[in-house]
Amino acid sequence: MRFYLTTAIDYVNGRPHLGQAYEKVAADVIARYQRLCAVDTFFLMGNDEHSQNVYKKAREAGLDPLAYCDEMEQVFRDRWAELNVSYDDFIRTTQPRHRAAVQKLAQRSFDAGDIYEGTYEGWYCVSCEAFKPEKDLVDGKCPIHPTLTPEWIKETNFFFRLSKYQDRLLKHFEQHPEFLQPDVRRNEILRMIEGGLEDISMSREGQAWGIPLPFSAGNVVYVWFDALINYIAAVGYGTDDERFAQWWPANLHVIGKDITRFHTVVWPAMLWSAGIEAPRQVFGHGWINYGGQRMSKTLGTSVEPGDLVAKFGPDPARLYLTKEIAFGNDGDFTWERYEERYNADLANNLGNLVSRVTSMVQKYRGSVARPAGDGGPLAAVVAGASGRYHAAMGRFALHEGVAAAYDIITATNGFVAETAPWALAKDPSAAGRLDAVLFEAAEAVRVAATLLLPVMPASAAEILRRVGETRPVADLRLPRDGQWRTGGERHVAADPPLWPRTDSPTPGPAAVTLAGQAPSVRIEKSISKEIRVSDAPTNPPAPAPAATQAIPATAAAPAPAAVPAATPAPAPADSRIAIDDFMRVELKAALILSAEAVPKSKKLIQLSVDVGEPAPRTIVAGIAEGYQPADLVGKRIVIVANLKPAKLMGIESNGMVLAASPEGGAPILVAVDERIAPGTRVR
Ligand code: MSP
Repeated sequence: MRFYLTTAIDYVNGRPHLGQAYEKVAADVIARYQRLCAVDTFFLMGNDEHSQNVYKKAREAGLDPLAYCDEMEQVFRDRWAELNVSYDDFIRTTQPRHRAAVQKLAQRSFDAGDIYEGTYEGWYCVSCEAFKPEKDLVDGKCPIHPTLTPEWIKETNFFFRLSKYQDRLLKHFEQHPEFLQPDVRRNEILRMIEGGLEDISMSREGQAWGIPLPFSAGNVVYVWFDALINYIAAVGYGTDDERFAQWWPANLHVIGKDITRFHTVVWPAMLWSAGIEAPRQVFGHGWINYGGQRMSKTLGTSVEPGDLVAKFGPDPARLYLTKEIAFGNDGDFTWERYEERYNADLANNLGNLVSRVTSMVQKYRGSVARPAGDGGPLAAVVAGASGRYHAAMGRFALHEGVAAAYDIITATNGFVAETAPWALAKDPSAAGRLDAVLFEAAEAVRVAATLLLPVMPASAAEILRRVGETRPVADLRLPRDGQWRTGGERHVAADPPLWPRTDSPTPGPAAVTLAGQAPSVRIEKSISKEIRVSDAPTNPPAPAPAATQAIPATAAAPAPAAVPAATPAPAPADSRIAIDDFMRVELKAALILSAEAVPKSKKLIQLSVDVGEPAPRTIVAGIAEGYQPADLVGKRIVIVANLKPAKLMGIESNGMVLAASPEGGAPILVAVDERIAPGTRVR
């Protein structure tokens, strides 16, 4: 099996920004996942150099454009190396192999009668490097670059007969619904094709920077027509037919939503015109914004990916970009949120779990966890989570894949709190049970780390070392190594915390003007705030996972999402409802898969619940005064399933949990017993 994966090639008129980094990291997660599944993967990235802006930038710097691009190649490669992006090849549009491919395709298309000479007159946005129909301008400006004035150009150009491919494109979209994902982009582009396609200019006149047309040396190929060809150039089109036959068509182009039209309308038509197959799939991801604003260097809202790496290292950056943004949707980055997630997901949840499990095995079993039995409740959690993980990763729902791996981590934290190994260690008759508990926890951590390898390659490998994985990381394969193992001694290493908590002051709105600079942050090296399992036996009751304790509750919580089951005051007769009204409320049994405290809220807990639907739901519930998150995992509760989603502390809640709130007391969840499957209607 083969998988050929590409990202957009970046313009090099500026240093790499977080938006470009987001795309490269997401594609890298896909590439690493494919390799982990033993798929022969070729992952291409590169730089787009024949842009007018690049030429201008080089001239401003007093450099020859090619020398400037050489320097920028290193800048981009350094950034990607810092983020641990594992591309197999890096193409530049000034390379001879690319030029050969561009000239071959242009000639083929010309010979097929799809390229003709004409006069272009109209607006051109240099930043988009695109011709802009008058109707698309807003107050005479390009909507994407409102600070720039588009240029009016009139030149003799060559046109590509895009209009000829309208019907074939429509048919292609119809026959291959997977061709463009997610669906929202597909629908958008489909409407556009249905609305009619005009021929497009494919050359520029009188410019020196670009690839000359093979049939008219006075014109260079238009930068977009040029750039798209990189995807076939890199696998040998025009230079190595055998290699080209092996790797084309590409399995997936990962690109941003702003350039889906070029990739799913212009690009297939160009290929067809030259007698080449279209790529199999294009995924148009969303945009990452900074504090809700579009990232822009001029507005000071651009973030340097290097600053994220400098703060906590590459893996927390990769985890944030993958876990916090639903792949396909727009997402947001703020330094504040980045720290919150670091503390919650890494310092408290995963990091603390690794510390607890390894130090318990060290303390109670001389660093060796021995197999005992077939695995208790965590084996089932792992089986469910692995299934969800593969289903999600297979359709590029990267955020859901990571969430599935995190379900294992949260459940294991809950398991440790519940089984209280420090108490078992005091009871000689519980020695067998302690063995089983320690092995089970170590095994669950091993599986979670294996599933997280594509997202956090270095940290997951380090966790695997700590929990005694004996196979070399490079030899691990899914699904095999993501399954529960019942055998094999584990020699664990209890080393200092992987991710010490950070308590830097929260950056205020000033961070917007300081965009691009990481706020100066002190990373606490001390582990005193971590819950150390070795202290546990002397500090009963059993410690809850640090996630519930470590984040100070500062902000007032909004109204809790829990519904009091018992209304204290008797309802006046005229407020009684008809049975039909009641039946409109869908009450359903649900199983809590994971729970975590909502940072800065005293009342809210974020739950992931199984309601018998294909994917778990997120519900934010105001029950923190009555429960520690770890105690909630595995509880069977009742939810209102047909509520409209609501945002609580920035988290979308899809439903409400039912809880009784005794006067003056903490909320108590309405529970159902384990015979009732998640999703069962409650009336
Ligand atoms: N050179 C073209 C692509 C040619 S591909 C044959 C280009 N370059 S770019 O540098 O402007 O953008 C590179 C990629 O980064 C694009 O996929 C673009 O959508 C993506 N992003 C740029 N800003 C972004 C965000 N703020 N957020 C997420 N991705 C964004 O377009």
